[in-house]
Amino acid sequence: MMSMFEEQLHSMVPQMSEEGPSKEGASTNDYMIEVDNIKKTFGNGPQILKGMSVNVQRGETLVVLGGSGMGKSVLMKHIIGLLKPDEGSIKVDGEEITTMGPTELKRVRAKFGMVFQNAALFDSMSNYDNVAFPLREHRKDMSEADIDKKVRSLFDMFTLDADIHGRQFPSELSGGQRKRVGLARAVALDPQIVLYDEPTTGLDPITTDQVDQMILDAQKALKVTSIVISHDIASAFNIADNIIFVYYGEIIARGTKEDMLKCEHPFVQEYFKTWIDKNK
Ligand SMILES: Nc1ncnc2c1ncn2[C@@H]1O[C@H](COP(=O)(O)OP(=O)(O)O)[C@@H](O)[C@H]1O
Ligand SMILES: [Mg+2]
Repeated sequence: MMSMFEEQLHSMVPQMSEEGPSKEGASTNDYMIEVDNIKKTFGNGPQILKGMSVNVQRGETLVVLGGSGMGKSVLMKHIIGLLKPDEGSIKVDGEEITTMGPTELKRVRAKFGMVFQNAALFDSMSNYDNVAFPLREHRKDMSEADIDKKVRSLFDMFTLDADIHGRQFPSELSGGQRKRVGLARAVALDPQIVLYDEPTTGLDPITTDQVDQMILDAQKALKVTSIVISHDIASAFNIADNIIFVYYGEIIARGTKEDMLKCEHPFVQEYFKTWIDKNK
């Protein structure tokens, strides 16, 4: 039996149609993601996104930095089509997603892999079955032998042993190993875009470095476009091509590590101050 939480997760694992990902609507434009002036308010609450715009190039790793409760996850949920903005436009691979219905969204969502905070694996399944899960669900064209080959190559890619770690359950792995299983599952369907929501939160510095390395390796091996939400400055500097800094629903700084460090916005300076002091 799956728990409610597992069912929720299940529905968020990229959904793929029987035919596999569609090429229709794919664009030759340089941007994989184009977010233009999106605004979002929930009910009678405050405005959470106050007009955010950001473009992500194909193959780029964008890091979204900022404190807690600033709107980073809400931005991410808009990009994957789980939330609709009150205003503004979001294009994924050249297609406007804000006006799409559930069937079309499902097709676009197949382009994404998601890595959640705490890895969020199915605790009742072996690690092998966790990684095989999206393939068994969405690749009815693949035989168990094909799936086994793919699962083993994913375990290899993330330096895990399919016969040892695969037989174990998520609770038997270290934090870093669980992250690697989570990433293997997220990329099992060969997504074009991988979204990471705070992949290193709660990890010790060594495991954080390992997860960073894994993100960089996945980037190189799969040539995916990545968006990584983080509040770890060292980790952001390690993996980012570009960074945006989110403060109460607005992007108040953007650019490279160097651009961040010379940004004169007082909140941005304050945020990077401890890192600068430590790395003097
Ligand atoms: N579904 C929702 N309904 C109402 N408020 C929400 C919802 N999702 C997020 N929020 C609020 O939006 C703000 C930003 O949240 P979030 O994007 O999760 O922050 P973070 O930057 O830590 O990821 C928070 O104040 C949060 O309470
Ligand atoms: Mg968040």
